[in-house]
Amino acid sequence: TETAGTATATTTTAATAAGTSAPPRPLTAVPGGTRSPLTRVEGPEKVTGAARYAAEVPFENVAHGWLVGSTIARGRITAIESDAVRAMPGVVAVIHHGNAPAINTDYQSIMGTPDPILGLFQQDTVPHVGWPVALVVADTSEQAREAAEALVVRYEEEPHDVVFSADSPDFYTPPPNMLGPADTAKGDLDAELAASDVVVDEVYTTPEEHHSPMEPHATTARWDGGRLDVIDSNQSTMFVAGELANLFQVEPASVRVRAEHVGGGFGSKMVKPNQIAAIMGASATGRPVRVSLTRRQMFTMVGYRSPTSQRVRLGADAEGRLRALDHQAKAQTSRVAEFLEPCASTSRVLYDAPAHHTSHRLLRLDVPTPTFMRAPGEAPGAFALESAMDELAVRGGIDPIALRARNEPDAGPVSGLPFAGRNLTACFEDGARRFGWADRDPRPGVRRDGRWLLGTGTAAATFHAGAGPSTASVTAEADGTYTVRINATDIGTGARTAMVLVAAETLGVDPGLCRVHIADSDLGPAMFAGGSMGTRSWAWAVSRAAGDLRDVLAEGGDIPAEGVTARSDTTEALGSLAEKERHSFGAQFAEVAVDTATGEVRVRRMLGVFAAGRIVNPLTARSQLVGGMIWGLSMALHEEAVRDRASGAQVGADFAGYHFSANADVPVVEAHWVEDHDPEDPIGIKGVGEIGIVGAAAAIANAVWHATGVRHRHLPIRPDRVL
Ligand code: MOS
Repeated sequence: TETAGTATATTTTAATAAGTSAPPRPLTAVPGGTRSPLTRVEGPEKVTGAARYAAEVPFENVAHGWLVGSTIARGRITAIESDAVRAMPGVVAVIHHGNAPAINTDYQSIMGTPDPILGLFQQDTVPHVGWPVALVVADTSEQAREAAEALVVRYEEEPHDVVFSADSPDFYTPPPNMLGPADTAKGDLDAELAASDVVVDEVYTTPEEHHSPMEPHATTARWDGGRLDVIDSNQSTMFVAGELANLFQVEPASVRVRAEHVGGGFGSKMVKPNQIAAIMGASATGRPVRVSLTRRQMFTMVGYRSPTSQRVRLGADAEGRLRALDHQAKAQTSRVAEFLEPCASTSRVLYDAPAHHTSHRLLRLDVPTPTFMRAPGEAPGAFALESAMDELAVRGGIDPIALRARNEPDAGPVSGLPFAGRNLTACFEDGARRFGWADRDPRPGVRRDGRWLLGTGTAAATFHAGAGPSTASVTAEADGTYTVRINATDIGTGARTAMVLVAAETLGVDPGLCRVHIADSDLGPAMFAGGSMGTRSWAWAVSRAAGDLRDVLAEGGDIPAEGVTARSDTTEALGSLAEKERHSFGAQFAEVAVDTATGEVRVRRMLGVFAAGRIVNPLTARSQLVGGMIWGLSMALHEEAVRDRASGAQVGADFAGYHFSANADVPVVEAHWVEDHDPEDPIGIKGVGEIGIVGAAAAIANAVWHATGVRHRHLPIRPDRVL
């Protein structure tokens, strides 16, 4: 503990200091809330339009950059005819591989080797459609766009292959990564399958899917007295600042990244071409430069979820106890970088069997590199595994919930490590009671409501829980208020609000007395908003600093003008955690109606019960879980990116062509949680960001089977597939 002056975060823009919000007004309890709920502390700023996003922060003399993406899927740039475009109104720079400054991509970060797409304009080769080939900078956004669209780029095309075919002979075994080895194997699969009373052996597929946060990727960058000042929409200012320092080969201390408000981020909002382009533009023009991706560009430049093909083999005895589990997962990556959608991870956690095998295989295609997208691995993985478990239940004449209860493992099926809490059975029991599962007639295709067939389904959910090292400070101000500083990012999750609650609870003061500064790399290292680890990681650091401050304040004495500050760093505490299987769990339920005339599937209700550790703010946690479940509905029925094999490009790369759940598709969605305090976390948190989507699509597909008697193993469950 130390006393320190409160370093006020200053900014030369018209916006408020990054991450600063007015002290919140606590609400009265909402029904069903288990802890003190609080509306978003930045809510008034957001609903009044006062909140500034990365492409809105005003700068004097700002110029606008517009990226040009390749129209071919593979080949080489032979000419960029920039002279005509340079003469267009307002154009101040055209940057491309012929004149771009050097970018360093030869380094390793916590995410591994950078995707070569970050080496903007460093090569004349084009490895996929939409690959950035030029940046046009102009006085206005309209001028930049007009000039960018007028820019003639000539290519020498080479044959490309963009077709993800599960039968391809070119699948390879990826090297081990942070999630473990490609393959795990124990026991004799053939022998156990042969000895099983009930067997399932099926292939499940999910299509290419895209995250397109409401706010597109956007950056405003400028050189500010030798320092790079980057206002950006991202999931971690610390990570982005570190990557930019590496890419531009400048001192880490000379890069400042802020992300005051972020309109959504689901894995893609890390370092992408927009930041590099804005900085290059700023260097070339000496002006602040803003680059915002278009919705269409987001389908090629920021990553997506790989299509998957998953063979699942299950064998069980007459009571439903698994003897064999084999999950073979295939996904795609690009020619230039490796990203694995780790679907079989689900099977490494949910169920054990004497013969238990999992594998991942990858196929390189001339496509953009896939990336993390909400519940990477688990979302498609649980669709396959939990559909297969439903098939096993049907074939074995066992209730689907009883089947899962019968297969609760004592330890991690692959790791052998103990679970740091599981509570999956508690989720199913609570969910069954709330949903009304006990009255369910297991026979398929026998419930009618006019021309609709009705059915219900369930599935398990899991997502890993963890924490990353973070630093924080909490200051008792002389005026009786408290200031929390932590480099968290609020991607819409309510992170600010959660930190206010954690600090207030630890200090034993009213949340209205606490303000929080976030999302500024100058605040120091902290975990990124990802992997469902943000709130837990940041709360750990904030509660430690607040606890130390409380102890200091308890000694009495006056608070000096500069306040009293306590600081924390959780690096050592996290390093000494015992090795365990740490995950959140959940039970998903859905009721569907299937139109026998049109093949349309309507979800009538969804209900999820989760064991996700202690819930910090019921209001925003519920929104996270419900949001994930709605995405699961979208995954089950709507989402499918279609790639044209001739051009290698997306068909309908926009919100008209890429279907997803809209309000009219979304029924009553309930999210609940069971008591699930994580004893190893100072607050008991696990994480709620991603688990909501996991298993939701399987619950719907299982409900469609129950309604119709037809099993759907390929997503989305489109009307033409139902008929
Ligand atoms: Mo999440 S896929 O770690 O943003």
